[in-house]
Amino acid sequence: MNILVTGGAGFIGSHVVRLLVNKYPEHTIVNFDKLTYAGNLSNLKDVADKSNYKFVKGDICSADDVNNAFTKYKITDVIHLAAESHVDRSIEGPMEFAMTNVIGTLNLLNVAKKHWDLNEKHTFHHVSTDEVYGSLGEEGLFMETTPYDPRSPYSASKASSDHFVSAFFHTYNFPVKMSNCSNNYGSHHFPEKLIPLMIQNIINMKSLPVYGKGENIRDWLWVEDHARAIETIFFNGRYGESYNVGGLNEWKNIDLIHFLCNLMDKKLNREPGVSASLITYVKDRSGHDMRYAIDATKLESELGWNPSITFEEGLEKTVDWYLENEDWVKEVTSGDYQKYYDSMYSNR
Ligand code: NAD
Ligand code: DAU
Repeated sequence: MNILVTGGAGFIGSHVVRLLVNKYPEHTIVNFDKLTYAGNLSNLKDVADKSNYKFVKGDICSADDVNNAFTKYKITDVIHLAAESHVDRSIEGPMEFAMTNVIGTLNLLNVAKKHWDLNEKHTFHHVSTDEVYGSLGEEGLFMETTPYDPRSPYSASKASSDHFVSAFFHTYNFPVKMSNCSNNYGSHHFPEKLIPLMIQNIINMKSLPVYGKGENIRDWLWVEDHARAIETIFFNGRYGESYNVGGLNEWKNIDLIHFLCNLMDKKLNREPGVSASLITYVKDRSGHDMRYAIDATKLESELGWNPSITFEEGLEKTVDWYLENEDWVKEVTSGDYQKYYDSMYSNR
């Protein structure tokens, strides 16, 4: 197989690429990435020299870029992760999200359809999010059958891309598989997102901006478990089906931040309570979804996937990784990140 992984230089994509390159030397893994602010080749320096790893700098919105990669590497399969992924940025600038997430996905589908003989075996795995289902109240879990109800420009763009993927299956019998996952955490997570942002600010004794009352709930999954779920669905999932991915691990934001502060006080040899004293309640996110929680029964019972570690273990590994990789943080935030941070947080 010659597998095109889009967004392979990003957070989740780099974990997927690493897993596939190491575990499947018989397959060629082509990382196709535009290298936006969120994409970084240093995420993959440990596999960059492997003979089954290739990199193409390209834009999923460009038919030429995608065509050239398909032709050059005789692409047989796609795992599509490239996207604009940050909800706060989508509130500030939704156009970019429609372009990349909707048009980019449609362009990829179109080019793959032109290249593939659908009598042969191919797979187009679209990686999506639980945010397409909207927001839960106190009860219930998102199922694959939950109606779509996206609330943010980000989730609206991902929902739209999901619909195009599904439309290609129904209209053209195009070989798609889909997954919708909850919040990931782990190494190589860009520091604009909650957990790595809090870790960085705790290290640097900067304030910890908690949106609203901190009562919103997210369902956290270790990124390497998501990568294994993608591997499982890509190889063994049924065509035309979507699979929810999550670890039944719900945390109120403020409880998670206190847990992280206590852990980091110990790691940094600080007096208990020093990190938590940095907590600052700030203006809420517009349209802030209250609660996400995933029912992953279908994936577990049909394909035998389960999360491999607890949140406590995963969070400690994550904190250790950030403490040992301050250079990575400096590198990925060296562009316009400080400008973004100031504009996002100074008027909250
Ligand atoms: P990320 O922002 O860390 O990485 C996105 C990658 O896509 C970057 O490498 C970027 O350079 C690349 N990219 C962006 N625009 C591109 C374009 N036009 N052409 C080619 N490459 C482009 O994102 P992530 O958090 O790793 O998320 C990956 C995918 O998983 C996304 O589709 C996201 O919606 C989905 N997802 C994320 C989470 C999560 O918790 N992070 C959970 C569920 C689903
Ligand atoms: O559910 C899956 C989604 O999870 C993915 O599809 C998205 O790509 C990913 O970014 C993530 O979206 P969230 O909006 O849930 O993640 P974020 O890390 O931005 O925020 C998590 C929670 O923390 C959310 O309730 C908002 C809150 N928050 C976030 C930041 C950045 C804060 O309170 N303060 C902050 O500074």
